[in-house]
Amino acid sequence: MTHGRVPAPGMIALVGIDGSGKTTQAHRLARELSAAGVRAAYRRNAGGRHWFGRLARLFGKSDGDALLGRRGMLAVESVLRWLAILRTLLRRAVTGGTVVMDRYAFCQYASLRARSAKPAAERRARLAYRLFRAPDVTFFLDVDPQVARDRIDARGYDSETLDYLAAARAAYYSLPEFATFVVIDANGTPDQVSAAIHAHLAGRAAPDPGHSVRSMIVAGGPLVAALAVAGEQFTETL
Ligand SMILES: Nc1ncnc2c1ncn2[C@@H]1O[C@H](COP(=O)(O)OP(=O)(O)OP(=O)(O)O)[C@@H](O)[C@H]1O
Ligand SMILES: [Mg+2]
Repeated sequence: MTHGRVPAPGMIALVGIDGSGKTTQAHRLARELSAAGVRAAYRRNAGGRHWFGRLARLFGKSDGDALLGRRGMLAVESVLRWLAILRTLLRRAVTGGTVVMDRYAFCQYASLRARSAKPAAERRARLAYRLFRAPDVTFFLDVDPQVARDRIDARGYDSETLDYLAAARAAYYSLPEFATFVVIDANGTPDQVSAAIHAHLAGRAAPDPGHSVRSMIVAGGPLVAALAVAGEQFTETL
């Protein structure tokens, strides 16, 4: 799939609850931007829950929380995600181009809120994550928790309760940064979600109509004046 003139913000983040389709769409977007001639790379800013979940099951525990405790797992996740984002941004500083990020710092704040961490824990995380600038665009893939749970169950390698998914969605909505997110309805098919993402990116690159009208007026003023003078001189020569 190719796109005519493809706008490419430097940093694109996809965030949202588990099962919202971040990994699917981030891979797809990086692939499609690359196919359209934009240097774009997929990067995962994981917090380690998946791997700690696997480790936990080796020890007969259900997940990372059961292995390390809720607060322990949150602390580990906050550190691992911080390192992952640092690595992503350092790689981008070296390679340039567009980076399509699967999760970002906002996911950590949402995770802390959804798991009822103390406000001090979020404050500490925010202090540490302040190092990282906000992405140029953050897509929030908004999905019904029930739809997300069905997808996670179908995926088959982990599970989430409906309560947690609903709390996580509410946590994203409660973030002070939420107003800066581009909310994408992620309940549809992968093609529909991808189309909504591309529509937003295309819209960003389109010239601001107000601006182009203003610039036409600014540029057009002297032109009209010059034509008026030329016209007047022309009629005088007749
Ligand atoms: N729009 C969609 N419609 C139906 N299924 C989808 C859609 N998007 C992704 N899926 C499938 O749902 C599952 C979850 O998607 P994905 O892994 O991309 O979500 P995620 O947001 O990255 O989840 P997590 O936070 O757990 O990593 C996958 O099996 C994927 O193939
Ligand atoms: Mg994922």
